[in-house]
Amino acid sequence: MAAKWLNDAVFYEIYPQSFYDTNGDGIGDIQGIIAKLDYIKGLGCNALWINPCFDSPFKDAGYDVRDYKKVAPRYGTNDDLVELFNVAHEKGIRVLLDLVPGHTSEEHEWFRMSQKAEKNEYSDRFIWTDFCFAAAPGFPYIGGESERSGTYVLNFFKCQPALNYGFFKVDQPWQKPMNHPAAIATREAIKDIMRFWLSRGCDGFRVDMASSLVKNDDEKKTGTSRIWRDVRRMLDLEFPEAAMVSEWSNPSLALRAGYDCDFYLNEPGSGYSTLMRDYYNHDSEDHSYFKKDAGGDINRFLDQYLDWYNDTKDLGYISLITCNHDTIRPRYNLDESELKLAYATIFTLPGVPFLYYGDEIGMRYQELPTKEGGYYRTGSRTPMQWDNSKNRGFSAGNKEDLYLPVDESEDAPTVAGCEADPDSLLHTVKEILALRHSKTDLQAAGDLQIVCSEAGKPFVYRRGSLTIAVNPDSNEKEVTLDLSGHSILWQIGTAGCEDGVLKVGGQSFVIFE
Ligand code: NOJ
Repeated sequence: MAAKWLNDAVFYEIYPQSFYDTNGDGIGDIQGIIAKLDYIKGLGCNALWINPCFDSPFKDAGYDVRDYKKVAPRYGTNDDLVELFNVAHEKGIRVLLDLVPGHTSEEHEWFRMSQKAEKNEYSDRFIWTDFCFAAAPGFPYIGGESERSGTYVLNFFKCQPALNYGFFKVDQPWQKPMNHPAAIATREAIKDIMRFWLSRGCDGFRVDMASSLVKNDDEKKTGTSRIWRDVRRMLDLEFPEAAMVSEWSNPSLALRAGYDCDFYLNEPGSGYSTLMRDYYNHDSEDHSYFKKDAGGDINRFLDQYLDWYNDTKDLGYISLITCNHDTIRPRYNLDESELKLAYATIFTLPGVPFLYYGDEIGMRYQELPTKEGGYYRTGSRTPMQWDNSKNRGFSAGNKEDLYLPVDESEDAPTVAGCEADPDSLLHTVKEILALRHSKTDLQAAGDLQIVCSEAGKPFVYRRGSLTIAVNPDSNEKEVTLDLSGHSILWQIGTAGCEDGVLKVGGQSFVIFE
């Protein structure tokens, strides 16, 4: 069962490059995160996920790790990171680091050693064929770059060779089984990295491509799950409070593999993408549920979500996200009124929610050339907009040195601007998160019952003793529902209940208690 603290956790995802720069070099840093902890706490977030902040050539924004045990100099030092753990803990904030177990950078010392012709401890740390001209059927692979006669398998970009956890089904002579000593050594090396940071105060990990470890795995990911359950056993013994959040997007598998939370990601076709990003699924019309009058259907989300929820509610949590560093910001498609309803819903559903930095002020997606392997993702990774001072308060450095350009449009939202406006998205986020913390029924483990998901009616659900209704369209919607004896606890827009009929005004959200 998941660590207890997760029940009331709300995460804030920080892309460290772009959050807050304290030394004027144009790149965010760890001291910058420390400086903004009170802001994060004030939002109602009590946990952080920091994207990889380790030494890296940054060909994939740090997801190409060169040294797992060293903070990238551009962000600071290991001491800075330990200081962040300590200061965050004093403020009641937990910190998850990003663990990238499936691959390293091609510049990692393990890989350099693995490329050598002469056999050594690291020869089988990665997946190699046994001849310089041998293909690795079914896998992306690279040849011709190493002293060793062999080609190696990639896990993602060209710069990210796949670590060797063994093959579930061995069908080539060069493939090692999962119980091969080299495959076991890889697993132990990852545990060693986890221990390194956990023993210094880190509270757990978001795990990159968690389902990708064992190759030729079966559909249920039996091999990879076995590895994570082994890791979980280590954590239960040595760091029982540590939280593990997987990038897997299959809670039924991930939570059974020992994860506490699994992200429900919004790749095209997923139910989650129909809430805010239906343009992923269609060529022309956008029927995102939270888009006003777009004819969205909440069941496109619920059909997938409820299957997972019902299957996993006793095992751990599904994590809904406003966005992440791989996703187009929701403001791309939805205006602030629409976002208020979307966030209020996401933050009142079960599971452990994640807010991506800047989404609380409705930061916009920027059309930009690619940076550090970002491609279209780059536009969601721009500097945080704190205020209207130089570089929107992100950095005192030169404009040309900024990691990415700040949003220079005249009406770019800023934290200072939103704080001064009682009607802002930021205030809605703060209010709904404060409410979530004050009501156990709204927290991760609280019960969920769907009351109404019919077309033409408000979407109504119950969290314990609370009844919640949302109507993203512009016209009022009603449903027969007796809420006598209940009163409105919180609302956006208008709502009321009379003679057994609940009426929810256009673009409204309401919680009855
Ligand atoms: C998923 C990460 O979220 C993404 O940013 C990265 O490029 C890939 N995994 C490869 O590590």
